[in-house]
Amino acid sequence: MANEKKLSDISWSEFQGLSLIDKAPYFRSEPPHTLIAQQFNRADLEELCALATRIKRINKRREGANYLKTLLSDKRAMLYFAQPSSRTYLSHNAACQILGLDTMDVRDSKTSSEVKGETPEDTVRTFSSYVDMIIMRHPVGGFAERVAWMMAQTPRPIPILNAGSGADQHPTQALLDVYTLQRSFEKIGGIDGKHVVFVGDLARGRTVRSLAWLLTLFEGVKLYFVAPDSLQIGQDILDLLDQAGTEYELTQDFESVMPTADAIYMTRIQDEWDTGDSSTTEASDFHIGAEHMDILKPTCAILHPLPRRQEVSTEIDNDPRAMYWRQMRNGMWIRAALILKTFHREDEVHRYYDAYKPPV
Ligand code: CP
Repeated sequence: MANEKKLSDISWSEFQGLSLIDKAPYFRSEPPHTLIAQQFNRADLEELCALATRIKRINKRREGANYLKTLLSDKRAMLYFAQPSSRTYLSHNAACQILGLDTMDVRDSKTSSEVKGETPEDTVRTFSSYVDMIIMRHPVGGFAERVAWMMAQTPRPIPILNAGSGADQHPTQALLDVYTLQRSFEKIGGIDGKHVVFVGDLARGRTVRSLAWLLTLFEGVKLYFVAPDSLQIGQDILDLLDQAGTEYELTQDFESVMPTADAIYMTRIQDEWDTGDSSTTEASDFHIGAEHMDILKPTCAILHPLPRRQEVSTEIDNDPRAMYWRQMRNGMWIRAALILKTFHREDEVHRYYDAYKPPV
């Protein structure tokens, strides 16, 4: 490609100075990385959602599941999780298994040679010697980008999937959230024109920061951010929304926005980032429970990236509008779609699907 932007052609300091929007094209060149929400466009989202649904349907039958396992049986993936995780780790691992990739993992840096003084950069380069993809979660914001840039300087660069970096990005979570919203609104016009309410710790919630951007790719969406001032969404995200022309409101009055909400995205307090001088008790007042069900729209989708604490009552788990358990399972399908697309094998699934027409 004539104007292709390659990570191997830019210095790290120059790259760091770019805006998120300007960084995005660098992650689309070979090998493709998934690092920030801003690298996706609307067509990407629609393609990934459609592919996820096809994988899910093919997987329902034994012969389909066996077929899927052949697709990436020549590949290996490293799951490097330097922060705790249940869903993101397990769903990526399950997605790899669906597609036949073998996986290895390091889930605690204390079990790697980092304890002997090896740098995180050398650690990841070591992993890359044995696998074809690294799926990584790391507490340092931007470290996954640094790894992708570093890969470009090596003879064998491999794709990096960001499974959560610092408090800044969680792009694969945002993809599964979009997939869940798309499925929830399938019969009521899709995501376009919907009102989405984000609640809780929005300052340090990387899922919210990534999803807010993806929602700018839909027409006429309006976002509401419900949080105390100390935990309100960052100005950097509001600037991006302004740039994209997406309408939004900041409020502390959750109940006033409930009746018109098409989706409510609850989040927990991210107190793992507390420094000791920040008060987070204010946000604990934001809660959704049985007492709110009558004022919500009958089609309102209640999402939560999980884990939850008290902000979503278990009383509403069986309400048909509570989507968070389905949202979690959707993560496995959309991550399988993303991994398959990263290796450019999606056409094989489409051919199989068209030939065998699996059950819906
Ligand atoms: N949603 C999410 O990232 O969950 P885990 O921390 O359990 O992976």
